[in-house]
Amino acid sequence: MALPYGILAIYGALVVWIGLLIQGYRRGSYWLFAVFGIALMLILNVGYFINGAPNAIAFFIGIYDVLDNLGTDAAPALATCPDNACTVWGNRYTNHPSWGVAFHDRFLNGSNMRTNLLYGHIGMNSIVFVLMHIQFFRPGHGASKKLHSILGRVTFVCLTISTVCAIILAGQHGDVASYGGSLSTYGFWFMALCVYGCAIMGVLAIRKADRDAHRVWMIRFIGSMWGAFWIFRVMLFVLGPILRQWDSAALLTVIWFSAPLGILIAEVLRRKYQSGQGGAMEGAYKGRSGFNV
Ligand code: HEM
Repeated sequence: MALPYGILAIYGALVVWIGLLIQGYRRGSYWLFAVFGIALMLILNVGYFINGAPNAIAFFIGIYDVLDNLGTDAAPALATCPDNACTVWGNRYTNHPSWGVAFHDRFLNGSNMRTNLLYGHIGMNSIVFVLMHIQFFRPGHGASKKLHSILGRVTFVCLTISTVCAIILAGQHGDVASYGGSLSTYGFWFMALCVYGCAIMGVLAIRKADRDAHRVWMIRFIGSMWGAFWIFRVMLFVLGPILRQWDSAALLTVIWFSAPLGILIAEVLRRKYQSGQGGAMEGAYKGRSGFNV
């Protein structure tokens, strides 16, 4: 069987990324860590549009197969899929995270409408993920005022489309047992509330010309987006093997907790930075974000 070199490259990238996180912590600048995370997100998500949803999902599951199979042949949260088509590992792994098997099936055998909703969600959210950083580093005062307000509107429209797509997709999870059924539906709706709620609060604040509150809510929004994408996927990677005795436990945990955790981390860093004590974010944002210490 040919090794899936793409998966090995992702593992290599994750190791480099951890290195950048440690380096960022030491230097007090997370700039490179953030750029690397955005690039990696784009590489993963663009795969959906190049290879199609089922193939991109098989690649995604391949990332999880290695750890989930470590040291076991079977567990309640592992499942098989027809012709073992839901992974890029060939026959090396025949058990996969059960959520992955259901995910692959939903988009291999689902309607075009469902797949288009997924594309809408992924495409729009990927754009938002990039734009929100541009907004953060080019705040709406001084020379970039006009651009900031235009990009802000574009970002908000994209976010609205992606969130609506996600809400509809999540509404179909009631009978997907290995996602956790209705708990998955409500969990994703709660995630949407966390993300969109922060964005709405930020928009309302700037409409009242309250720039300080606008910045606070948009930092929370950025945290929620990092939570919904990266904390979600990294947590699932770690929790999958730990919680595999309970079907859907790992997935439900990350669905419910990733976005609030992202908001919490953003809030802690913001307070630490604004109080001027920590310096952990200082190098990353000083002079680039419009943050006033
Ligand atoms: C508002 C917060 C979010 C919600 C409620 C949400 C919800 C969902 C749902 C329901 C699915 C489809 C699962 C299925 O129906 O089988 C999904 C998949 C996906 N979402 Fe999100 N999501 C959110 C944030 C994000 C963000 C910020 C990104 C990217 C920047 C993103 C990218 C993806 C991708 C790429 C997939 C396919 C799975 C994968 O390859 O990772 N989502 N999301």
